[in-house]
Amino acid sequence: MDKWTTRKVEKLFKKRLYSNILQSEELKQLIPPAQREQRGKVSARFWTTEQLPGLGLRYGFIKAPESCQVACVYTAKGGVLKTTLAFNIARTAALNGIKTLVIGLDVQCSITDLLSKNLDQYESIEDVKSPPGLFSVVKGDYKIHEVIQVCDLPTLHYLPENPNISLLEHEFSSRDNKIDSISKLIKPLKSKYELIIFDCSPSWSVVIKNALLASNHVISPLGCDVGSYRSVSQNIQRISQFKEENDLFWDSFSVIPTLRENSKISAQIEAQYRTEYGDLCSNNSIRRTVLGQENSLKFKTVFEDAPNSSLSDNYFDLIKELWVKIEGVTNG
Ligand SMILES: Nc1ncnc2c1ncn2[C@@H]1O[C@H](COP(=O)(O)OP(=O)(O)O)[C@@H](O)[C@H]1O
Ligand SMILES: [Mg+2]
Repeated sequence: MDKWTTRKVEKLFKKRLYSNILQSEELKQLIPPAQREQRGKVSARFWTTEQLPGLGLRYGFIKAPESCQVACVYTAKGGVLKTTLAFNIARTAALNGIKTLVIGLDVQCSITDLLSKNLDQYESIEDVKSPPGLFSVVKGDYKIHEVIQVCDLPTLHYLPENPNISLLEHEFSSRDNKIDSISKLIKPLKSKYELIIFDCSPSWSVVIKNALLASNHVISPLGCDVGSYRSVSQNIQRISQFKEENDLFWDSFSVIPTLRENSKISAQIEAQYRTEYGDLCSNNSIRRTVLGQENSLKFKTVFEDAPNSSLSDNYFDLIKELWVKIEGVTNG
């Protein structure tokens, strides 16, 4: 069991917490009750991981929107941090007490792996089998709420991907209205969750179009490296064109520079994205560092795993910036 001491919680939410305030808020039941651990003569408070969203509601740095917001993380390029970004945004929201649902739409199942392995190790072969996902719901074998899975944070749920997500493409393509199925499927979930986030595959497909139609925020990470730069210009155009053709209204569309390095070419590529995409481009970007990969390997956000790092500062600034658009929709 992870023990979250006051010092660790302070680092997680980047907020100073005073003992007398904690004491009084605990008494008033404004925060979850801490357990105590004797350290020499002092009795130190600590909370469990499961209790963190309760602390986040009080001390966190982002607030729940008044109505459910749906965000789609999509770029037609692999390896640009779509999954890492979706995971960090979703888990950070959940840590802040925001009821969050992740829907994975990639046959690689990367975000499902990040969310499911969280619950320690598998005990038997039965546990290793893919749980039913969206395709089983579409086929009518399960109701959507029956396939939703829980995590170590009570505010974080996910609809698991499994390899048969590729069959969805065929299923949706054969329908009269090909692109509104996911929108209909998630409708009943909007009263249960405050944030729904899609992690997409890099392909341009009917499934991706469904996710874009079902969302009111689109987040497109673009790598600040030569390979990404060469491949992305048409991709943003294509998303914008799809939006126009289908008369979609998105409350926000954010292009995020990722994998920024300390090299001249990387700086030039970032500057080029800023020129090209203007207001769509976020002021904050995410640096390339092995730490990003390490956090994922531990199934944790950078705030939990490396709160003192520059990467944690990048994510803090970026998520706060995105949140102005996401929460701003409902809270003026
Ligand atoms: N800040 C970072 N810098 C470098 N690599 C990172 C960073 N964050 C995550 N990664 C790693 O980069 C790889 C690709 O990221 P991923 O989010 O899976 O991309 P995508 O979903 O766009 O294909 C993963 O192995 C991930 O762990
Ligand atoms: Mg991915």
